[in-house]
Amino acid sequence: MGSLYFDHSATTPMRPEVIQAMMPYFAEHAGNPSSIHMFGQRAKRALDEARRTVADLLGAKPAEIYFTSGATESNNIAIQGAAKSYAMFGRHLITSAFEHHAVLHTFQALEKQGFQVTYLPVDEQGLVRPEEVEKALRPDTILVSIMLANNEVGTVQPIREIAGILRRRGILFHTDAVQAVGKIPVNVRELGVDMLSLTAHKFYGPKGVGALYVREGVEIAPLFFGGHQEGALRPGTQNVPGIVGLAAALRLACQEMEEESARLRRLRDLLEQSIIERIPDVHINGHPDKRLAHISNVSFAGLDGEALLLALDMQGIAVSTGSACTAGSTEPSHVLRAMGVDPLLARGSIRFSLGRDNTEEDIRFLIEVLVPAVSRLRQMAPAGA
Ligand SMILES: Cc1ncc(COP(=O)(O)O)c(C=O)c1O
Repeated sequence: MGSLYFDHSATTPMRPEVIQAMMPYFAEHAGNPSSIHMFGQRAKRALDEARRTVADLLGAKPAEIYFTSGATESNNIAIQGAAKSYAMFGRHLITSAFEHHAVLHTFQALEKQGFQVTYLPVDEQGLVRPEEVEKALRPDTILVSIMLANNEVGTVQPIREIAGILRRRGILFHTDAVQAVGKIPVNVRELGVDMLSLTAHKFYGPKGVGALYVREGVEIAPLFFGGHQEGALRPGTQNVPGIVGLAAALRLACQEMEEESARLRRLRDLLEQSIIERIPDVHINGHPDKRLAHISNVSFAGLDGEALLLALDMQGIAVSTGSACTAGSTEPSHVLRAMGVDPLLARGSIRFSLGRDNTEEDIRFLIEVLVPAVSRLRQMAPAGA
């Protein structure tokens, strides 16, 4: 067996169909979509078509879709832009304690600019309770941002219920939908959100390209200044091949979603069942059913997750201890801490995130490597480690 990749929540390999869709826009049709001549207009048509595709797949209007360089940028534009633009109505913001750092660090930066932020707790399964959102609201609350699905444990949040509460009060609602898009149905109108972020490289599209949905009528201040591109909210020449790739990847992911997520759920259940049967002292993190089908986060008591990751890597198996953005940090995951997982147990946690290329045979091979690796590391670990 060669190398096995179980880190699809960090990023995914590009699909050949997506590469093929992008290819003409690197050289053959390399016009600038803002140019008036035919080269420009061809690129513009590709851009318009991609915007229509993304809008259709999300239940939005094309004018509500802004292309960006990825979800970090989408989250920053949404959160900072809305905070700036609505500051005259109040300076209180709400998010959860277990967001991705692209959201958490944006809120922390806003705190330094005089905004007040409430970081909501999550329960032990990683759910933000809508009642907690309601309790935290103040007359000066202008914006709430809660992720649709968590990147470390996969818990899917009650976004629709939270949106209902906020809509009644006229408070803006943003969701980081990076891990959910292409995995579960995501329709902005059904969810009732005002802003939604996504990034192509999580659903077999290219890296460095994403999108932000902004509901018509919501005015957000730009963070960058320059040309008129993307409604002047994200000025700068668009990444045409990347955007074409994003739209192609999203279309394929949505077409195959039902079948693929059922397949991944079966594989994940096999993985978790086998771990529970063959390895003592393990704990599965996240909600038992309100969870993305492809993510399994497991705490192995009495060992260091990073050591297990390295042991598996030596055998050609790629997993992660949490978010790719926090890799190398010695701190236990802020997500698991927010869920109340004991810090020592959190240190022994591994995220397995499955994808299109994984098969049942891969899972069985992973188990055969994992079982002795865990027992070896537990023997080596000092008591209580
Ligand atoms: C939940 C979540 N939000 C945001 C990001 C950042 O996305 P990007 O790499 O496109 O900036 C990620 C990627 O790891 C993520 O998982």
